[in-house]
Amino acid sequence: MVEATKTAKKNKFEQFKAEKDGLAVKEELEKFARLGWEVIDETDLQHRLKWVGVFYRPVTPGKFMLRMRIPNGILNSQQMRVLGQIVQRYGEDGNADITTRQNIQLRGIRLEDVPDIFQCFKEVDLTSVQSGMDNVRNITGSPMAGIDADELIDTRELVQKVQDMITSCGQGNYEFTNLPRKFNIAIEGGRDNSVHAEINDIAFVPAYKDGKLGFNVLVGGFFSAKRCEAAVPLNAWVAPNDDVVKLCRAILIVYRDRGLRANRQKARLMWLIDEWGIDKFRSMVEAQFGKPLTTAAEEDLIDWEKRDHIGVFKQKQPGLNYVGIHVPIGRLYAQDMFDLARIAEVYGSGEIRLTVEQNVIIPNISDENLDAFGSEPLLEKFTLEPKTLERSLVSCTGAQFCNFALVETKNRALALARELDAELEIPNKVRIHWTGCPNSCGQPQVADIGLMGTKVRKDGKTVEGVDLYMGGKVGKEAELGNCVQKGIACDDLKLVLRDILIEQFGAKVR
Ligand code: HEM
Ligand code: SF4
Repeated sequence: MVEATKTAKKNKFEQFKAEKDGLAVKEELEKFARLGWEVIDETDLQHRLKWVGVFYRPVTPGKFMLRMRIPNGILNSQQMRVLGQIVQRYGEDGNADITTRQNIQLRGIRLEDVPDIFQCFKEVDLTSVQSGMDNVRNITGSPMAGIDADELIDTRELVQKVQDMITSCGQGNYEFTNLPRKFNIAIEGGRDNSVHAEINDIAFVPAYKDGKLGFNVLVGGFFSAKRCEAAVPLNAWVAPNDDVVKLCRAILIVYRDRGLRANRQKARLMWLIDEWGIDKFRSMVEAQFGKPLTTAAEEDLIDWEKRDHIGVFKQKQPGLNYVGIHVPIGRLYAQDMFDLARIAEVYGSGEIRLTVEQNVIIPNISDENLDAFGSEPLLEKFTLEPKTLERSLVSCTGAQFCNFALVETKNRALALARELDAELEIPNKVRIHWTGCPNSCGQPQVADIGLMGTKVRKDGKTVEGVDLYMGGKVGKEAELGNCVQKGIACDDLKLVLRDILIEQFGAKVR
């Protein structure tokens, strides 16, 4: 068999996974905590710990990043408070980022504290299991699931069930800890493609089939340094019930057992779909699914522009509102997390939601509570009315913490957006996405203006710069943008962006 021959030639990652499954470190955390990070096995330190969400950061040795799982981006105030208490332990080193997968990454974590931190997680039903490396990442769902009057399908329970299947309810599940590569799943329940369905390995998008509401299924979407592809139709429709979980399971098993593993640059699901063709892929999935797949509905129901949810909105429940607050570049500190927990409890139901735009939604605020909520001091920092560019700004981690980064991103992105917002009157939203290197974690390809970190030569010196992407579309007509200009030195970027904003986005000098 072709695949078998390919698997026989194992790359370094396949070798260490075969020697010892990444999840096995779960049983060794006490030992690691005792020994200290300096002396534990290199592969455990740099790779296997990611199976429990613990990322060694070469930029800040000894201060780890901890990536959570927040299914559908929904957590409660108690959970947020626990996360805040964890980063608070680390003083200036401790903070948390909201990610573009509706997730949270904690920073400053010490390995000696991990057993205790995991105990705290257990008490409030949080988990970070299988959140890095060759695992299924945080599963995204509609940020307004269950509260949006125009919603088609409530995604919350489905997302939770898929996560529970993959992680054995957060305990860790060896069935899915050795995929050929990382894997993304998204379930959209609304009309505006709030989850960026097209960039996921499996995406469910609402569609009517024979008068019944369910999902059309897309597969194979991914970004990488070498190749970016939007997901393609599987030609399958599923009802919004356990079939969603079963289909995810079937696809994951086919990918796990037959996915290409020889070359990590060619191991994402789409490469298998390419090799087999979509029809063979579909029939292999169908065989694993155990019953015939229903063919796709002709049309899906994604027909709205994408919303960013910032501001105050009526819920479908009379008298209740959800408020989307803007968190600049997704960065939270301990006090912010405590304040979020408190305002969610005082004015809402304690629930807190995260968006793929790296912002926060507080749902279930009654009409009577809105005024008092609006005068909370936290809303001076996290405003309901951010300026145009800052409003839609997204950024990956960048050089502050990430060893892959070629440039500093978050702080620079924010400073530049603020300067341009101050100088220009910009009539409509412009979504600027920064990403520190070609790995594209910040998704420059979905942005109106995408900026990808690179090194450029300027005046005989190597300096930080960016490649410019344009034309990414989201929502109904989602499309990936392309690189239109290479190697702009960051020092020159403000003028370049200013011109683009004036010429292409109708901006006027104030
Ligand atoms: C070989 C390719 C990739 C590598 C090696 C890689 C590596 C990393 C690392 C090390 C981090 C953590 C940095 C930190 O916060 O300390 C990270 C974060 C992240 N990555 Fe990737 N990544 C890759 C591709 C991608 C792609 C294609 C996506 C999806 C478009 C993605 C999505 C994310 C997200 C959502 C985060 C969290 C930070 C954020 O919101 O930007 N990654 N990645
Ligand atoms: S895009 Fe590059 S710099 Fe940014 S988080 Fe991903 S790997 Fe790090």
